[in-house]
Amino acid sequence: MPYQGKSVIVTGGSGFIGSNLTLRLVREGAHVTVVDPCVPGCGGDPRNLRDVLDRVRILGVDIAQPAVFEDAIRQADVVFNLAGEISHIHSMMNPERDLQLNTTSQLRFLQACANWNPGVRVVFAGTRQVYGVPEYLPVDEDHPINPVDFNGIHKYAATMYHLMLSRTGLLDACVLRLTNVYGPRMSLTVPGQGFLSAYLRKLELGEPLQVFGDGQQLRDPLHVDDAVEAFLMVGAARPLPSRSYNIGGPEALSLLEITRIACATAGLPEPTLRPFPAERASIDIGSYRTDSSRIRAELGWAPQVRFEDGFAQALGFYRRQAAAHGR
Ligand SMILES: NC(=O)c1ccc[n+]([C@@H]2O[C@H](COP(=O)([O-])OP(=O)(O)OC[C@H]3O[C@@H](n4cnc5c(N)ncnc54)[C@H](O)[C@@H]3O)[C@@H](O)[C@H]2O)c1
Repeated sequence: MPYQGKSVIVTGGSGFIGSNLTLRLVREGAHVTVVDPCVPGCGGDPRNLRDVLDRVRILGVDIAQPAVFEDAIRQADVVFNLAGEISHIHSMMNPERDLQLNTTSQLRFLQACANWNPGVRVVFAGTRQVYGVPEYLPVDEDHPINPVDFNGIHKYAATMYHLMLSRTGLLDACVLRLTNVYGPRMSLTVPGQGFLSAYLRKLELGEPLQVFGDGQQLRDPLHVDDAVEAFLMVGAARPLPSRSYNIGGPEALSLLEITRIACATAGLPEPTLRPFPAERASIDIGSYRTDSSRIRAELGWAPQVRFEDGFAQALGFYRRQAAAHGR
């Protein structure tokens, strides 16, 4: 129980991955402060934490205002830094908004962490998007960086803040470069949250699924429980063997296979193919598959949840939510 009695901050803790992490940390006995204003257009939802409202301190402020939670920063044993905008499409439509949410606010927050709690462990939710179109598969941590959209560029700037401040000893940070994550508490109502969110939404409504292009691009979906496990392991590792880890799912599947599994799970007919919309084609990265062997070798993390099982669990979660809360 490495988190029993520990003080932790979860930025972006009302969002999809952050709320799953917060719920787990509460179960582990941590004192959790969530910093998340539920930015309009992002996936945060206060209802994600409704079961632990009496056991979590929730601050509805932007991480760009660290003075509001200076006490939490000073006391933190670990900072899980998940605040951010994930939508690639939103970043292309409004790059300055993405810059503000993913970069400027991170700079302010990390400087405050370095000033008020020098050397604190920070685990940052980075993204595989920084690699751009893969030059080889599977993609390891040494793959060249060449993002294809503003979101990837801004997340990479934030990645480098963590790494630079760690090189100078002001932080003890680690960046997890996540592939496509799915599971309970992912927003299904906010657009731009990725194809798995769109699939779950459509299946809940009983609508048929369509695949863009020929459906042959590979993805390695990662269940949120596996992602949470990686955050916890890295947050607790002393010493930290590496500063960056690629975090991917257990299987590489084509989009067509993923969509077929999704349809079969929901009892709907086979998906149909349709041409890529132009705005998506321009930022598509083709096939992606993660090489997670570094974290497996150094910390023993490996994804456990196969897509077929994880997707069925997620769909069940949303159906129960809809029945219980009309959500
Ligand atoms: N979901 C994925 O597949 C995926 C893949 C790669 C990386 N990531 C990264 O993981 C993190 C969490 O993603 P998610 O899927 O849970 O997204 P999400 O949108 O569900 O949650 C992100 C949360 O961050 C909050 N937020 C945004 N800017 C903030 C700011 N400046 N200050 C405080 N809070 C802020 C939002 O209100 C939201 O609740 C993000 O940083 C994202 O880039 C996610």
